Amino acid sequence: MTETTGTTDRAGQAAGSDWQAWQASWDRQQEWYMPDREERFRVMLDMVEAVVGREPRVLDLACGTGTITARLLDRFPGATSTGVDLDPALLAIARGTFAGDERVRFVTADLKDPQWTGLLPDGRYDAVLTSTALHWMHSEPLTALYRQLAGLVRDGGVLMNADHMPDTTTPRINAAERAHRHAAMDRAKASGALDWADWWALAAADPVLAEPTARRFEIYGEHADGDTPPVDWHTRTLREAGFAEARAVWRSPSDALVLALK
Ligand SMILES: C[S@@+](CC[C@H](N)C(=O)[O-])C[C@H]1O[C@@H](n2cnc3c(N)ncnc32)[C@H](O)[C@@H]1O
Repeated sequence: MTETTGTTDRAGQAAGSDWQAWQASWDRQQEWYMPDREERFRVMLDMVEAVVGREPRVLDLACGTGTITARLLDRFPGATSTGVDLDPALLAIARGTFAGDERVRFVTADLKDPQWTGLLPDGRYDAVLTSTALHWMHSEPLTALYRQLAGLVRDGGVLMNADHMPDTTTPRINAAERAHRHAAMDRAKASGALDWADWWALAAADPVLAEPTARRFEIYGEHADGDTPPVDWHTRTLREAGFAEARAVWRSPSDALVLALK
Protein backbone atom coordinates (compact mmCIF):
# COMPACT_ATOMS: atom_id res chain seq x y z
CA MET A 1 0.00 0.00 0.00
CA THR A 2 1.28 3.47 -0.80
CA GLU A 3 1.38 5.72 2.25
CA THR A 4 0.45 9.30 1.46
CA THR A 5 1.67 11.74 4.02
CA GLY A 6 -0.18 14.89 4.83
CA THR A 7 1.31 18.33 4.69
CA THR A 8 0.21 21.87 5.24
CA ASP A 9 1.80 24.41 2.94
CA ARG A 10 3.14 27.85 3.81
CA ALA A 11 -0.22 29.51 3.20
CA GLY A 12 -1.81 27.22 5.79
CA GLN A 13 -3.77 25.44 3.08
CA ALA A 14 -4.49 21.75 3.25
CA ALA A 15 -2.76 19.12 1.17
CA GLY A 16 -2.47 15.34 0.89
CA SER A 17 -4.11 13.22 3.57
CA ASP A 18 -3.76 15.75 6.37
CA TRP A 19 -7.47 15.44 7.08
CA GLN A 20 -7.50 17.92 9.95
CA ALA A 21 -5.92 20.53 7.68
CA TRP A 22 -8.62 19.87 5.05
CA GLN A 23 -11.26 20.20 7.78
CA ALA A 24 -9.83 23.54 8.90
CA SER A 25 -9.55 24.76 5.33
CA TRP A 26 -13.18 23.72 4.57
CA ASP A 27 -14.37 25.51 7.71
CA ARG A 28 -12.56 28.73 6.75
CA GLN A 29 -14.06 28.59 3.26
CA GLN A 30 -17.61 28.04 4.60
CA GLU A 31 -17.12 30.77 7.22
CA TRP A 32 -16.24 33.21 4.46
CA TYR A 33 -19.90 32.88 3.42
CA MET A 34 -21.28 32.45 6.97
CA PRO A 35 -19.21 34.12 9.73
CA ASP A 36 -21.85 32.91 12.24
CA ARG A 37 -21.55 29.25 11.15
CA GLU A 38 -20.30 28.02 14.55
CA GLU A 39 -23.08 29.87 16.35
CA ARG A 40 -25.74 27.92 14.45
CA PHE A 41 -23.97 24.63 15.28
CA ARG A 42 -23.88 25.60 18.96
CA VAL A 43 -27.63 26.28 19.00
CA MET A 44 -28.25 23.08 17.02
CA LEU A 45 -26.39 21.02 19.65
CA ASP A 46 -28.05 22.92 22.51
CA MET A 47 -31.40 21.85 21.05
CA VAL A 48 -30.22 18.26 20.54
CA GLU A 49 -29.35 18.16 24.25
CA ALA A 50 -32.62 19.87 25.22
CA VAL A 51 -34.87 17.54 23.25
CA VAL A 52 -33.15 14.13 22.94
CA GLY A 53 -30.30 14.24 25.46
CA ARG A 54 -26.54 13.71 25.40
CA GLU A 55 -26.28 10.27 23.76
CA PRO A 56 -28.30 10.66 20.59
CA ARG A 57 -28.24 8.48 17.50
CA VAL A 58 -27.76 11.10 14.76
CA LEU A 59 -28.11 11.21 11.00
CA ASP A 60 -25.75 13.91 9.62
CA LEU A 61 -27.62 14.62 6.40
CA ALA A 62 -25.58 15.94 3.43
CA CYS A 63 -22.66 15.75 5.83
CA GLY A 64 -19.89 17.02 3.55
CA THR A 65 -16.66 16.58 5.52
CA GLY A 66 -18.60 15.58 8.66
CA THR A 67 -18.67 19.05 10.20
CA ILE A 68 -21.74 18.43 12.37
CA THR A 69 -20.52 14.96 13.38
CA ALA A 70 -17.20 16.40 14.60
CA ARG A 71 -18.90 19.01 16.78
CA LEU A 72 -21.47 16.47 18.00
CA LEU A 73 -18.83 13.99 19.19
CA ASP A 74 -16.66 16.70 20.76
CA ARG A 75 -19.58 17.79 22.89
CA PHE A 76 -21.37 14.42 23.37
CA PRO A 77 -18.80 11.59 23.31
CA GLY A 78 -21.57 9.02 23.83
CA ALA A 79 -23.36 9.99 20.60
CA THR A 80 -23.23 8.01 17.35
CA SER A 81 -23.50 9.44 13.86
CA THR A 82 -24.17 8.27 10.33
CA GLY A 83 -23.11 10.77 7.67
CA VAL A 84 -24.82 10.69 4.27
CA ASP A 85 -23.56 12.53 1.21
CA LEU A 86 -22.97 12.07 -2.50
CA ASP A 87 -19.71 14.02 -2.93
CA PRO A 88 -16.76 11.61 -3.20
CA ALA A 89 -14.14 14.25 -2.31
CA LEU A 90 -15.88 15.58 0.80
CA LEU A 91 -16.66 12.00 1.85
CA ALA A 92 -12.97 11.09 1.41
CA ILE A 93 -12.08 13.84 3.90
CA ALA A 94 -14.88 12.71 6.22
CA ARG A 95 -13.87 9.04 6.08
CA GLY A 96 -10.20 9.92 6.59
CA THR A 97 -11.01 12.14 9.57
CA PHE A 98 -13.08 9.56 11.44
CA ALA A 99 -11.21 6.39 10.38
CA GLY A 100 -11.25 3.88 13.27
CA ASP A 101 -14.00 5.70 15.21
CA GLU A 102 -16.69 3.07 15.72
CA ARG A 103 -19.28 5.71 16.60
CA VAL A 104 -19.24 7.03 13.01
CA ARG A 105 -20.35 5.59 9.68
CA PHE A 106 -20.66 7.13 6.25
CA VAL A 107 -23.04 6.25 3.45
CA THR A 108 -22.81 7.41 -0.15
CA ALA A 109 -26.32 8.25 -1.34
CA ASP A 110 -28.24 10.73 -3.49
CA LEU A 111 -30.98 12.32 -1.38
CA LYS A 112 -33.04 12.72 -4.58
CA ASP A 113 -33.07 8.95 -5.07
CA PRO A 114 -36.45 7.72 -3.75
CA GLN A 115 -34.72 4.57 -2.43
CA TRP A 116 -31.85 6.28 -0.56
CA THR A 117 -33.13 5.52 2.95
CA GLY A 118 -32.72 1.80 2.18
CA LEU A 119 -28.93 2.34 2.29
CA LEU A 120 -28.95 3.43 5.95
CA PRO A 121 -27.58 1.04 8.56
CA ASP A 122 -30.00 2.01 11.37
CA GLY A 123 -33.75 2.09 11.79
CA ARG A 124 -34.79 5.36 13.37
CA TYR A 125 -32.85 8.36 14.60
CA ASP A 126 -33.10 10.61 17.63
CA ALA A 127 -31.94 13.55 15.52
CA VAL A 128 -31.48 14.29 11.83
CA LEU A 129 -29.16 17.30 11.49
CA THR A 130 -28.23 19.20 8.34
CA SER A 131 -26.55 22.47 7.42
CA THR A 132 -26.07 24.56 4.29
CA ALA A 133 -27.15 21.74 2.03
CA LEU A 134 -30.86 21.44 1.34
CA HIS A 135 -30.86 24.65 -0.76
CA TRP A 136 -29.17 22.39 -3.35
CA MET A 137 -32.64 20.88 -3.87
CA HIS A 138 -35.75 22.36 -5.48
CA SER A 139 -38.86 22.65 -3.31
CA GLU A 140 -40.65 19.62 -4.76
CA PRO A 141 -37.87 17.06 -4.09
CA LEU A 142 -37.24 18.74 -0.70
CA THR A 143 -40.91 18.22 0.19
CA ALA A 144 -40.52 14.52 -0.67
CA LEU A 145 -37.29 14.38 1.37
CA TYR A 146 -38.99 15.94 4.42
CA ARG A 147 -41.66 13.19 4.19
CA GLN A 148 -38.94 10.52 4.14
CA LEU A 149 -37.19 12.17 7.09
CA ALA A 150 -40.41 12.20 9.12
CA GLY A 151 -40.33 8.42 8.75
CA LEU A 152 -36.70 8.24 9.91
CA VAL A 153 -37.08 10.31 13.09
CA ARG A 154 -38.46 8.47 16.13
CA ASP A 155 -41.46 9.89 17.97
CA GLY A 156 -40.09 12.65 20.23
CA GLY A 157 -37.02 13.02 18.00
CA VAL A 158 -35.95 16.08 16.00
CA LEU A 159 -34.98 17.24 12.56
CA MET A 160 -32.92 20.43 12.35
CA ASN A 161 -32.05 22.25 9.15
CA ALA A 162 -29.72 25.29 9.17
CA ASP A 163 -29.70 26.95 5.77
CA HIS A 164 -30.25 30.09 3.72
CA MET A 165 -33.88 31.08 4.30
CA PRO A 166 -34.29 34.72 3.28
CA ASP A 167 -37.55 36.53 4.04
CA THR A 168 -39.04 37.15 0.61
CA THR A 169 -41.39 39.87 1.92
CA THR A 170 -38.51 42.32 2.63
CA PRO A 171 -36.55 42.86 -0.62
CA ARG A 172 -35.03 46.24 0.36
CA ILE A 173 -33.86 44.98 3.74
CA ASN A 174 -32.48 41.86 2.03
CA ALA A 175 -30.61 43.93 -0.57
CA ALA A 176 -29.04 46.17 2.09
CA GLU A 177 -28.01 43.19 4.22
CA ARG A 178 -26.59 41.37 1.20
CA ALA A 179 -24.54 44.39 0.10
CA HIS A 180 -23.17 44.80 3.64
CA ARG A 181 -22.29 41.08 3.91
CA HIS A 182 -20.66 41.02 0.48
CA ALA A 183 -18.55 44.09 1.27
CA ALA A 184 -17.11 42.21 4.28
CA MET A 185 -16.55 39.14 2.08
CA ASP A 186 -14.71 41.27 -0.49
CA ARG A 187 -12.43 42.63 2.24
CA ALA A 188 -11.71 39.11 3.53
CA LYS A 189 -11.03 37.92 -0.03
CA ALA A 190 -8.55 40.74 -0.52
CA SER A 191 -6.77 39.42 2.60
CA GLY A 192 -6.51 35.93 1.10
CA ALA A 193 -9.75 34.11 2.04
CA LEU A 194 -10.61 31.17 -0.21
CA ASP A 195 -14.03 31.02 -1.84
CA TRP A 196 -15.82 27.90 -3.12
CA ALA A 197 -14.09 27.91 -6.53
CA ASP A 198 -10.63 28.54 -5.00
CA TRP A 199 -11.12 25.72 -2.51
CA TRP A 200 -12.16 23.24 -5.19
CA ALA A 201 -9.21 24.32 -7.35
CA LEU A 202 -6.94 23.38 -4.42
CA ALA A 203 -8.63 19.99 -4.09
CA ALA A 204 -8.43 19.37 -7.85
CA ALA A 205 -4.69 20.05 -7.81
CA ASP A 206 -4.04 17.79 -4.83
CA PRO A 207 -2.58 14.31 -5.49
CA VAL A 208 -4.90 12.65 -2.95
CA LEU A 209 -8.13 14.52 -3.69
CA ALA A 210 -7.77 15.08 -7.47
CA GLU A 211 -9.55 11.88 -8.50
CA PRO A 212 -12.59 12.14 -6.17
CA THR A 213 -12.76 15.86 -7.00
CA ALA A 214 -12.97 15.07 -10.72
CA ARG A 215 -15.81 12.65 -9.95
CA ARG A 216 -17.68 15.22 -7.84
CA PHE A 217 -17.55 17.73 -10.72
CA GLU A 218 -19.02 15.04 -13.01
CA ILE A 219 -21.86 14.58 -10.50
CA TYR A 220 -22.64 18.20 -9.63
CA GLY A 221 -20.78 20.61 -11.87
CA GLU A 222 -19.98 23.61 -9.64
CA HIS A 223 -22.98 22.75 -7.44
CA ALA A 224 -26.59 21.66 -7.90
CA ASP A 225 -29.36 24.21 -8.45
CA GLY A 226 -32.08 24.52 -5.85
CA ASP A 227 -34.45 26.87 -4.00
CA THR A 228 -34.16 28.97 -0.84
CA PRO A 229 -37.74 29.16 0.47
CA PRO A 230 -38.41 31.18 3.65
CA VAL A 231 -38.76 29.80 7.17
CA ASP A 232 -42.56 29.56 7.05
CA TRP A 233 -42.38 27.35 3.94
CA HIS A 234 -40.09 24.96 5.83
CA THR A 235 -42.19 24.89 9.01
CA ARG A 236 -45.44 24.36 7.08
CA THR A 237 -43.94 21.66 4.86
CA LEU A 238 -42.42 19.88 7.86
CA ARG A 239 -45.77 19.81 9.68
CA GLU A 240 -47.48 18.52 6.53
CA ALA A 241 -44.75 15.87 6.29
CA GLY A 242 -45.70 14.45 9.71
CA PHE A 243 -43.82 16.50 12.33
CA ALA A 244 -45.92 17.68 15.29
CA GLU A 245 -44.26 21.09 15.77
CA ALA A 246 -41.82 23.17 13.76
CA ARG A 247 -40.28 26.61 14.17
CA ALA A 248 -37.05 28.55 13.85
CA VAL A 249 -34.79 28.27 16.92
CA TRP A 250 -32.09 30.62 15.54
CA ARG A 251 -32.08 33.34 12.89
CA SER A 252 -29.63 35.62 11.19
CA PRO A 253 -30.57 38.33 8.66
CA SER A 254 -30.41 35.78 5.80
CA ASP A 255 -30.37 32.29 7.34
CA ALA A 256 -32.23 30.24 9.92
CA LEU A 257 -32.11 27.04 11.92
CA VAL A 258 -35.49 25.30 11.75
CA LEU A 259 -36.34 22.62 14.31
CA ALA A 260 -39.12 20.10 13.71
CA LEU A 261 -40.27 17.81 16.55
CA LYS A 262 -41.77 14.43 15.70
C1 LIG B 1 -22.09 23.29 1.22
S1 LIG B 1 -21.96 21.59 1.58
C2 LIG B 1 -22.34 21.54 3.33
C3 LIG B 1 -21.70 20.35 4.00
C4 LIG B 1 -21.83 20.33 5.53
N1 LIG B 1 -23.18 20.05 5.95
C5 LIG B 1 -21.33 21.61 6.14
O1 LIG B 1 -22.13 22.36 6.70
O2 LIG B 1 -20.14 21.88 6.03
C6 LIG B 1 -23.43 20.91 0.84
C7 LIG B 1 -23.42 19.38 0.88
O3 LIG B 1 -24.69 18.87 0.45
C8 LIG B 1 -24.44 17.69 -0.28
N2 LIG B 1 -25.57 17.40 -1.13
C9 LIG B 1 -26.25 18.29 -1.93
N3 LIG B 1 -27.19 17.64 -2.64
C10 LIG B 1 -27.13 16.33 -2.26
C11 LIG B 1 -27.85 15.17 -2.66
N4 LIG B 1 -28.83 15.23 -3.57
N5 LIG B 1 -27.52 13.99 -2.09
C12 LIG B 1 -26.52 13.91 -1.16
N6 LIG B 1 -25.81 14.98 -0.75
C13 LIG B 1 -26.11 16.17 -1.31
C14 LIG B 1 -23.19 18.05 -1.08
O4 LIG B 1 -22.55 16.91 -1.61
C15 LIG B 1 -22.37 18.78 -0.04
O5 LIG B 1 -21.56 17.92 0.69
